[in-house]
Amino acid sequence: MTQKIFPRVYRAYFEYLYARHKDPWDYETDPYERDKYARTLEALGGRRFTRALDVGCSIGVLTALLAHSCDDLVAIDASALAIRRARRRLAPFSHVDVRRGSLPEDIPAGPFDLVVCSEVLYYFDEELLSATLEGLKRELAPGGVLLAVHGRFESKTCPLTGDEVHDHLKANIGLEHDIEANGPRFRLDLFRSPTAPGESRAAVEAGACSIIDRLLNTVLLGPPVRAEPDGSP
Ligand SMILES: C[S@@+](CC[C@H](N)C(=O)[O-])C[C@H]1O[C@@H](n2cnc3c(N)ncnc32)[C@H](O)[C@@H]1O
Repeated sequence: MTQKIFPRVYRAYFEYLYARHKDPWDYETDPYERDKYARTLEALGGRRFTRALDVGCSIGVLTALLAHSCDDLVAIDASALAIRRARRRLAPFSHVDVRRGSLPEDIPAGPFDLVVCSEVLYYFDEELLSATLEGLKRELAPGGVLLAVHGRFESKTCPLTGDEVHDHLKANIGLEHDIEANGPRFRLDLFRSPTAPGESRAAVEAGACSIIDRLLNTVLLGPPVRAEPDGSP
């Protein structure tokens, strides 16, 4: 498949999925997903981010959790239906900008001090993955982090497995590998871009505030985010 055809095929596939299910992967209710989200937030270490990017945000469940630790957050997804649901969920967060767009061509302009790629990169083939990672790296701020987390399942609809994505990241991304927090069902890696000359990593992280406990107690362990009230897709 070429770079141009591949995302178009997937757009139709994802629209079909979202037309059939409000939450195709049970992000709102599946305890495994909630545990994975908790581990994702934990890996971010309570740091506060100035401007973050959530790639392939789907219906915005993870985006809503990330929103608590970002001053500005851009969430992007190729699916119109997913974006509609994400916008509804994220309406209370005026600092979250939910955009429809397809990577790598629509990578939003940075600089971002956080880029999250959760359950999205295995939809790319090797060529698109490399192009996407190059584009995301270009938009990373000095000292910024790229967090990737992907399930370890085999799927006929994904060109790559989660393991292949993370092996590729570790071998090729060219950023400092900072955190590895693998589970039996998922892989999580956090990479860090070099800090600007004269700026120490401690200084970059000086703005960290311990919001993890609050998030875990009030958001993750609270009632699940309600599904849409109406039956519309
Ligand atoms: C499995 S969901 C990810 C969910 C979300 N990141 C999470 O972890 O809760 C994958 C999403 O990636 C989006 N996607 C796939 N390829 C994409 C691309 N090239 N550009 C933008 N979004 C894409 C799909 O539309 C879908 O909503």
